[in-house]
Amino acid sequence: MVVSRPQVFIGREEVARVVSRLAAEISKDYDGRQVLLLGVLKGCFVFMADLVRQIRGVSTEMEFVTLSSYEGAMVSSGSVRTVRGIRADIREKEVLVIEDIVDTGTTISYLLNYLKSQGPESVKLCALLDKPSRRQIPVEIDYLGCTVPDKFIVGYGLDAGEKFRHLPDICIWEGRE
Ligand code: IMP
Ligand code: MG
Repeated sequence: MVVSRPQVFIGREEVARVVSRLAAEISKDYDGRQVLLLGVLKGCFVFMADLVRQIRGVSTEMEFVTLSSYEGAMVSSGSVRTVRGIRADIREKEVLVIEDIVDTGTTISYLLNYLKSQGPESVKLCALLDKPSRRQIPVEIDYLGCTVPDKFIVGYGLDAGEKFRHLPDICIWEGRE
């Protein structure tokens, strides 16, 4: 069986520029304040690691949540299943959610609605990628890296069936498992 290779779509140098820009925006907006950075696993792990190390002048805490709507498939199943919830008390905290990609919007709107119900001071969203052509639920992205076409994206933390997360570039994958 022939498996096609992921093709570079946004190279690592450009990704680094995008991440630096986002870190500068976040540093400016949260200057001198405290923020709880809430990463959505697993896809956020490379992006968040690069992003947080460039945030300056902000007091940070970090938490992670694992949500899944894909269940290993390449098309979103539409229902969100919380796998690992937030243990931290977010009441009166400024929360910044760090997400890899917003696709239909199902996953992130579920999380944002949950967070807003917990009485935080504020909730904002930072997403590396946005695939607006597939949106089903409107989502406001406060800090956005890049908009991508309706293609399957892998690399820089994003996977296809748990593969390709380690690739240093953001790639398009047309292949099949
Ligand atoms: P949504 O609920 O449809 O917005 O799906 C969002 C989640 O599905 C993201 O957080 C990703 O983990 C995953 N996802 C959506 N599109 C892609 C893609 O092109 N490549 C890899 N993962 C994706
Ligand atoms: Mg994700």
